[in-house]
Amino acid sequence: MCGIAAYTGKKNGNTVILNGLKKLEYRGYDSAGIAYLQNASINILKSVGKVENLKELALKDKVNSFCIIGHTRWATHGKPSQENSHPHTGNKSEIALVHNGIIENYLELKQRLAAKGHKFKSETDSEVAAHLIEEYLKKTKNFEAAFTSAVKHLKGAYAITAMYSKEPGVLMAAKKQSPLVLGIAEDEYFLASDVPAFLEYTRKVIFLEDGDIIKISPTGYKITNAQGGNIKRKISFINWDSASAQKGGYKHFMLKEIFDQPQAVEDTLRTLPLNIEKSFSITPARAKKIKGFYIIACGTAYHAALAAKYWIESIAKLPAEVETASEFRYRDVNFQKDWVLAAISQSGETADTLSALIKAKKAGVKVLSVCNVLGSTIARESDFTVYTHCGPEISVASTKAFTAQLTALYSLAINLAAARGALSKKEAASLYKELYRLPALMTQALKTREQIRKIAKKAYKKPSFIFLGRNTGYPLALEGALKLKEISYLHAEGFAGGEIKHGPIALIDAATPVITLMPAGKTYDKMLNSCREVEARGADLIMITNECLSNAIVLPKTGENLFPIIAAVPLQLFAYYIADLRGREIDRPRNLAKSVTVE
Ligand code: G6P
Repeated sequence: MCGIAAYTGKKNGNTVILNGLKKLEYRGYDSAGIAYLQNASINILKSVGKVENLKELALKDKVNSFCIIGHTRWATHGKPSQENSHPHTGNKSEIALVHNGIIENYLELKQRLAAKGHKFKSETDSEVAAHLIEEYLKKTKNFEAAFTSAVKHLKGAYAITAMYSKEPGVLMAAKKQSPLVLGIAEDEYFLASDVPAFLEYTRKVIFLEDGDIIKISPTGYKITNAQGGNIKRKISFINWDSASAQKGGYKHFMLKEIFDQPQAVEDTLRTLPLNIEKSFSITPARAKKIKGFYIIACGTAYHAALAAKYWIESIAKLPAEVETASEFRYRDVNFQKDWVLAAISQSGETADTLSALIKAKKAGVKVLSVCNVLGSTIARESDFTVYTHCGPEISVASTKAFTAQLTALYSLAINLAAARGALSKKEAASLYKELYRLPALMTQALKTREQIRKIAKKAYKKPSFIFLGRNTGYPLALEGALKLKEISYLHAEGFAGGEIKHGPIALIDAATPVITLMPAGKTYDKMLNSCREVEARGADLIMITNECLSNAIVLPKTGENLFPIIAAVPLQLFAYYIADLRGREIDRPRNLAKSVTVE
């Protein structure tokens, strides 16, 4: 996830773009850059770190241009650095381009272009698009034609905006599966990943759609498809204020991030084959050597680790031990031969997780990590890293990182199983087929929003909540309780459904709602029994299931394995609405930090 802001008009666009990028920093903040047209040539400024650093450079350079493209980066291919930050150019600086998304076939394109004499300066997937346009310009000499031809060869997700020094004032853009909005004002046009980037200049916008190719200049705009056919899109008027616009119109970042999940999971899934085969390279020989897993993590990531244990054991048929990193680092672990340590961390900087990882490394254990932040310390210290692709998670309480971690870990279990021969190719393909339905299933799960808001309205004054689950529903029970306590400051505990009789049932009375996680499958009937037991003690029951059950929150039907990823959605919404009704500061709960880099 990165942020794009672009301007063409009649005034100096410097302030427009730098302020716009600042508003988009929530989309990425590891480096930033602009390309601007001056005296018919393109100048580029880049800086590592926040947009503030870029502002200083622009001030020194006295940037004054009526046509500027800008970018704030969240690294996916290549570490955060001057070379990897956008805008990128071709061999000559006649083309400059900014990109948000992932170009899946960039290696193949890179090879073809290199054979034609293109020299690449960065490790990014994005740079190939600039070279590709340059290549087509040799033939067509026409920016629009070259841009349109180049875009046809890109696979994956992209929002791209490009400029060409020989057609001053013209910007070309394309969109597929990454957001891009056009802002319309008098003799000036804006393109951005999100509305807040230009909201102070215009409220007249077009939300571009997949496949759209856009041409803007101070004299107007044109939208076409890849075949050159003209397209008419509806103009919308924005009536949100600037602060809520930054959250995409949502009241809090947490709610926005809950709704970002289908996209985050899709982006993670899209890169997994590359991630797992190329980075982790689970060749059959290597996979067969692995005898087991230690999985360590903290907080929400620990709950993802717990779910992974069920998958690794049941699908890959390997033993897995899960422990919070803070315990693992001080325990006398008798490391076993050919066991791998998997560290799960959104930030890749959590102190306990890092220390536990270093301890394993020192003992000669191979380390795999699942991280969201490219080039983070945990990723750098690992032998292999599988990246989730959520973009920055702003809300302290983790939501989209959790479901993306689950997605990556589930996929890892399938891959391992296939490589070890625990699953036939056909069986693995069928599990994958279901996994690829996940973004659509999560979109369906989000439709429970109104039902959950109503349930939360009835429950938010209760002092204490119990979450119950069995099998992969158990880690989810822990996560549901954690989410609720983190942002509502209410007492909440998660238990394995079978443990209720061994103590927790003493807590249950009419003042204690019980949330049960009940996937169709081997533990469903057992969970129904637990429901009857708590109901008999007067508790309000909130059942989350994918079976046809009345008075329950019913999720789309899937195999048991996918249940925790989908059922995370109603749990997150439940915690969110309770906290909102109690007037809590949801995105920054008291006493908590997003990244805990001290012990
Ligand atoms: C903090 C955050 C949690 C997070 C945990 C682990 O406690 O508040 O939301 O789950 O750290 O963070 P990591 O970045 O390692 O996933």
